[in-house]
Amino acid sequence: MSGIVSTPGGALLGVVRVPPDKSISHRSIIFGAIADGVTKVSNLLEGEDVLATVAAFRNLGVAIDGPEAGNMTISGVGKNGLEAAGCELDLGNSGTSMRLLSGLLAGQRFGSRLTGDASLKRRPMTRVVEPLTKMGARIVATDGHPPLDIQGAARLHGIEYRLPMASAQVKSALLLAGLYASGRTIVDEPTQTRDHTERMLAGFAGATWNPTGPVSINSQIELTGQTLAVPGDISSGAFLLVAATLRQGSDVLLSGVGVNPTRSAVLEILRLMGADIERSRERIESNEPVCDLRVRSAELKGIDVPPEFAANAIDEFPVIAVAAAGASGITRIRRVSELRVKESDRIAAMVQGLTQLGIDAVEYPDGMDVLGGQFTSGSVDSFGDHRIAMAFAVAGCFADGPVEVSEADNIRTSFPNFVSLMNSVGLNIKECP
Ligand code: S3P
Repeated sequence: MSGIVSTPGGALLGVVRVPPDKSISHRSIIFGAIADGVTKVSNLLEGEDVLATVAAFRNLGVAIDGPEAGNMTISGVGKNGLEAAGCELDLGNSGTSMRLLSGLLAGQRFGSRLTGDASLKRRPMTRVVEPLTKMGARIVATDGHPPLDIQGAARLHGIEYRLPMASAQVKSALLLAGLYASGRTIVDEPTQTRDHTERMLAGFAGATWNPTGPVSINSQIELTGQTLAVPGDISSGAFLLVAATLRQGSDVLLSGVGVNPTRSAVLEILRLMGADIERSRERIESNEPVCDLRVRSAELKGIDVPPEFAANAIDEFPVIAVAAAGASGITRIRRVSELRVKESDRIAAMVQGLTQLGIDAVEYPDGMDVLGGQFTSGSVDSFGDHRIAMAFAVAGCFADGPVEVSEADNIRTSFPNFVSLMNSVGLNIKECP
């Protein structure tokens, strides 16, 4: 795969299992590695980002069987059992691996060097380096970016920290460092971000999940190996939700999707726009809410996206912008400046691509306006960003001709079977070398 071409067609029909959740997959490896005893994970995402985390822990001396068909067994080495890697840890495209590992490795007796691909090397790391340094860590970044040189044997101490931006990655990095710090580490957030780390920590610590205000942690916490099932990724499911909503006559069931409220604001946003999405079989699996989602086609209307939904739908805005283009009227998206520091500048990338496909879109420092219209055939640049590439593949399914998307390889980081799964319900996407 290098580019993809998405051609319009008929209704989308079928029952699908969306890929496993990427955020939860990363965390299952991290906690499994530093727990005492064996952790068994089923339905692990075998995407490139998660495989980068697996490879990093193997380099840190952790025995991991699999993943194979989503099953992985980790022989936990205990909190103090990691070993120096002896090579730099290449985390590819994965911001989650880089930020969470920087927190974990800041508290080890040995040093580490973390690097990644060209996109990851452009992503801001001061947001983790600064608070970790306040905790006593010694980390040298490259002008605020990876590679990160983390020195060993730093003596960490707990801090009370209010995040300057909504970031679950920074929160998680500090909590992981807090496992190695004297005293208590307390993290307060401007708005609640995804809480997978806290939920999983509770499971590994044998505690009951009980969300109450700022999150806090100390080094006394004991972690014991668990058996975990990773739910389907709502961020991947969102591409199907939008495609099925916009293609007339569609009726698709997504089974086993994670609907943690700190992750699922896309459902609220699409509902406000008029989408028809029905939840069933609500349940809790491995401390995470899960359900089936049935989506049928519907007429969408433009809305002012409530800013309080921003943090809990942050990865879905590329495809929300596509939904907005398929809606009647204008959709205003604001207070999402975090989109500018994702795998690409997602505000600029979306506005450029939408415009190239005949949609009126205006860029603002912290968001965009999108006026509903008809996508024309054309070519767009994904800027090597998996979610931009998949969003425009969805646009192609209701354009007036084929839409070509460049540099789609990174779809493998989060949704390795994107083309086959989307085609199985009726999309028409082809890979082109
Ligand atoms: C993630 C948190 C989010 C999200 C990313 C995954 C995580 O980033 O965009 O795709 O797994 O913690 P921020 O926490 O930087 O907003």
